[in-house]
Amino acid sequence: MLCATRLIPGLEDWIKTSGIKEFKIPIDQSEVLSPHKDTEILISSLEDNLDSEALVKIPNLKIISQFAVGVNNIDLEYCRENNIAVGHTPGVLTEATANTALTLLMMLARQAVPATQNAKSGYWRGWEPMGFIGKSLKGKTLGIIGMGRIGAELSRMLKQLFSMNILYYGPSKKPELEKELDANFVELNSLLRESDVVSIHCPLLDTNHKFLNEEKLSLMKQDSILINTARGALIDQDALVEYLNQKKFFGVGLDVTDPEPLSKEHPLYQFDRVVIFPHIGSAENETRDQMASLVFINIENFMKGNPLKASAI
Ligand code: DGY
Repeated sequence: MLCATRLIPGLEDWIKTSGIKEFKIPIDQSEVLSPHKDTEILISSLEDNLDSEALVKIPNLKIISQFAVGVNNIDLEYCRENNIAVGHTPGVLTEATANTALTLLMMLARQAVPATQNAKSGYWRGWEPMGFIGKSLKGKTLGIIGMGRIGAELSRMLKQLFSMNILYYGPSKKPELEKELDANFVELNSLLRESDVVSIHCPLLDTNHKFLNEEKLSLMKQDSILINTARGALIDQDALVEYLNQKKFFGVGLDVTDPEPLSKEHPLYQFDRVVIFPHIGSAENETRDQMASLVFINIENFMKGNPLKASAI
């Protein structure tokens, strides 16, 4: 039996050709969490909390095929111990997510939101020599936290567009990227101190919740720009609000928050220089189709007894 928690592009058509006879789509979170003795294949999304408590209720589960690259919602240790394969969708959403980070950055650097609001709300009085002054990115320093595919793609874009100097921090050095991008590996504190733009691209792990805390945020330049398209829980949001209140940051761009959705009363919405997207990093037609294809290929490979095309464990 296959269960899907969300409808993903092409799912119904793919099921017809897959040979899978029993399926249930889409089931909601409460259904996933209720005992599912028959489910062997689960198509999940990043919103499904698949911790050990949830997984133990799906005792015959053989494979989770996640419609996302991030798998922080899944207890991977439990899956390893219980021989459950876990597939995900790396690679196909690299450009879309880097584009989202670039969009947030450009909106902040050029004050796009307050400028648009000004025109729309009838306050546009004419060309203003001192109005909506943005920030040039030319030759500035970009700090990438987590130089994986997405971090590297954003670096390429910003190197090409603005000849930015690239610093990066992560679990390992990337000699090829250093050569390609003229990038330098530095410790996290140096990256935060020296960068004009900091962009987060690391996975959320048990070990790095709120790693960008009060102490780390204090190291960042007063007028820097912070972008997060990875996971909201990587930043201590209360500390972020506190620093925004103290007039730190030229801008903060978040495609991800903690929690999601972020309620409309949240203090982060009160700042003109904060742009918040509702987690749309990979939301392009073509990208979502490719993510779905990878979800299906992972399942097909598993059913044939082959290694998954993209395994998360
Ligand atoms: C992911 O895939 O992990 C993104 O956050 C959503 O596309």
